[in-house]
Amino acid sequence: MASWITLLLFVLASATAQQYYIPVAGTSSRPQCTATPSCLQPTYSPYSAFSYSLTETIRTATSVQPGPTTTYAAPAASLTGLISSLSYTTWGKWDPNATTSATDTDNPYGNAAWTALWKFANPPNFTETSVFSTTVLPTPVPTSELVLPPPDYFGPTDCYYFPDDFQFGVAGSAAQIEGATADEGKSPSLVDILIQDDRPKDYVTNENYYYYKQEIERLASMGVKHYSFSIAWCRILPFALPGTPVNQQGLDHYSDLINFLLEKVLCYEPIGSSSEAIGWLHNGGYQNETFVDAYVNYAKIVMTHYADRVPIWITFNEPLIYSFNGLSVDHVLKAHAQVYHFYKESINGTGKVSLKFSDNFGVPRDPANPNDVYAADHFNSFQLGTFCNPIFLGQDYPESYKQTVSDYVPLTPEDLAYINGTADFLGIDPYTATVVSPPVEDSIDSILACAANPSSIYFPYCVNQSWLTTTGWNIGYRSQYFVYITPTYLRLYLSYLYNTFHAPIVITEFGFPVFGEAEKADLSDELYDTPRSIYYLSYMSEILKSIWEDGVHVAGAFAWSFADNWEFGDYSQHFGLQTVDRTTQERRYKKSFFDLVDFVNTRTMPKEQS
Ligand SMILES: *[C@@H]1O[C@H](CO)[C@@H](O)[C@H](O)[C@H]1NC(C)=O
Ligand SMILES: *[C@@H]1O[C@H](CO)[C@@H](O)[C@H](O)[C@H]1NC(C)=O
Ligand SMILES: *[C@@H]1O[C@H](CO)[C@@H](O)[C@H](O)[C@H]1NC(C)=O
Ligand SMILES: *[C@@H]1O[C@H](CO)[C@@H](O)[C@H](O)[C@H]1NC(C)=O
Ligand SMILES: *[C@@H]1O[C@H](CO)[C@@H](O)[C@H](O)[C@H]1NC(C)=O
Ligand SMILES: *[C@@H]1O[C@H](CO)[C@@H](O)[C@H](O)[C@H]1NC(C)=O
Repeated sequence: MASWITLLLFVLASATAQQYYIPVAGTSSRPQCTATPSCLQPTYSPYSAFSYSLTETIRTATSVQPGPTTTYAAPAASLTGLISSLSYTTWGKWDPNATTSATDTDNPYGNAAWTALWKFANPPNFTETSVFSTTVLPTPVPTSELVLPPPDYFGPTDCYYFPDDFQFGVAGSAAQIEGATADEGKSPSLVDILIQDDRPKDYVTNENYYYYKQEIERLASMGVKHYSFSIAWCRILPFALPGTPVNQQGLDHYSDLINFLLEKVLCYEPIGSSSEAIGWLHNGGYQNETFVDAYVNYAKIVMTHYADRVPIWITFNEPLIYSFNGLSVDHVLKAHAQVYHFYKESINGTGKVSLKFSDNFGVPRDPANPNDVYAADHFNSFQLGTFCNPIFLGQDYPESYKQTVSDYVPLTPEDLAYINGTADFLGIDPYTATVVSPPVEDSIDSILACAANPSSIYFPYCVNQSWLTTTGWNIGYRSQYFVYITPTYLRLYLSYLYNTFHAPIVITEFGFPVFGEAEKADLSDELYDTPRSIYYLSYMSEILKSIWEDGVHVAGAFAWSFADNWEFGDYSQHFGLQTVDRTTQERRYKKSFFDLVDFVNTRTMPKEQS
């Protein structure tokens, strides 16, 4: 009751004593309001009988019907001859507690050698806590799970449609979802062991290796048609190098996954990417003298086996992050170009090939300050131009890269001619925007001094990254991590990418880990994830404006991720459109999943009746 009194006192006081703040440029405009009659007053109704009414409309989702299957290359049987000396074998499961050991020590790729890989890797805290040990058979999702949640009150009111070539899908990656780490012939990956830091390791994650059919069933039931996944190198070639045997079980696994996707009408975008490391200056192994040949051999094996059914290939995931030095970047460019040429000229594939990049858009703190603009250019060109100048423009590395990575490998005119044009679109993971200025206020020299000094705290990007704009406000609503909701900057970013690199753009990942979602005690609160809906709907809305108002060719958007997953040592960053029960592996759709799919469906042009 006390609060009533406080409130009344406050209202009285404010009527006499407060200052009012209004924007200097006047109040916000309401373009939809054509007339603003100054003397119009409401007419109050006479009293009438009141009755309760239900304000919710119950709507349920329906799953999509399979469409015609397209092929993108000849079947595997007529392509595998393009690679010499392929042999296939199986190894099974590693058991660190096994009492007997393999005796085939003469075989460099036998069971003893395979077990030795695991013993050498010695994964920390390796335990078996998985729920599944074999593929879970799919069951239909009950209608009760497909009841649409109430939409948020505020949302886009545009009348745009997604063009025919626009693909909306969801994305995940092997290391973060598969589990089954030492099963069916997989060898240790960088993620399993080689990142020797104190992040908690996890060998179970989402058990997608066994749960993939139900996973896909759930996505298909939501009407999702495109699925981006990655293929683990260490499942296909446990010994990595050319000439070593192919793991038949790993090969069959991804083939079954692709076939099940086709059965459920999802197309998919496998990432022929490798094992992963963490962060710039961490070692993804690209600089190794065997890397280019080994990667190209691996990619050829995967492509020849699946190219008939796969429409889109991504060779490398965020390669700058895993690059160690100038040789790493050189190897990535050359390996990528070789794979592109092999796909187009030897396989004669009709699908698309590209790679995907990390760079949260660097926006100048003050766009009117040329030094801040210089800093933003330095930041963006270093992360993107390093790969995109040669690949999309046939041009040399940007100055920002050459200033920063002193051992960069110069590209010859022959290199550039070979690399130029080896991507059919530009894949970008534009989670958020970041405010950029020189490390020392207004000093371009401070950027250059940092670039020449790897021990600078600002190295390698050599800019002051902040989330504060010149107004002192955060650039957007903040998540659990440094992802802010910055939809209008996304639109600007799409223009930057399209007009700088002259290629169609595909948003290969974007997503939002809602602050504190993992701490919510009630599952029902976790499922009602309005900030994530705001993130996705505002971003999708700006993508439409980019397409229709700015003339930018945006060809797709893949949400990260279709379920909460293992974010490299962290389960508290929930990026998922579904929750995952960490004990039972049961998934539940969050509200944002319905909102996002509904946004896309209502803006998908109806197919003409034939
Ligand atoms: C090995 O045995 C220990 C002790 O029984 C057990 O805690 C552990 O989970 C076992 N490891 C595996 C991978 O089975
Ligand atoms: C191993 O387990 C211990 C005890 O649970 C934990 O403190 C440590 O972080 C784990 N180490 C790794 C690398 O996962
Ligand atoms: C490169 O990789 C090969 C094969 O794994 C390994 O034998 C070699 O030691 C590596 N080279 C360097 C310099 O680390
Ligand atoms: C791809 O096309 C080239 C040139 O037409 C041809 O020589 C080659 O045999 C084709 N490859 C396959 C796998 O059909
Ligand atoms: C790169 O390839 C494109 C398309 O074929 C071509 O227009 C451009 O001139 C090439 N760039 C260079 C520097 O050769
Ligand atoms: C970095 O930028 C932020 C926001 O613009 C500013 O508050 C901060 O003082 C800057 N830091 C340095 C070291 O200039």
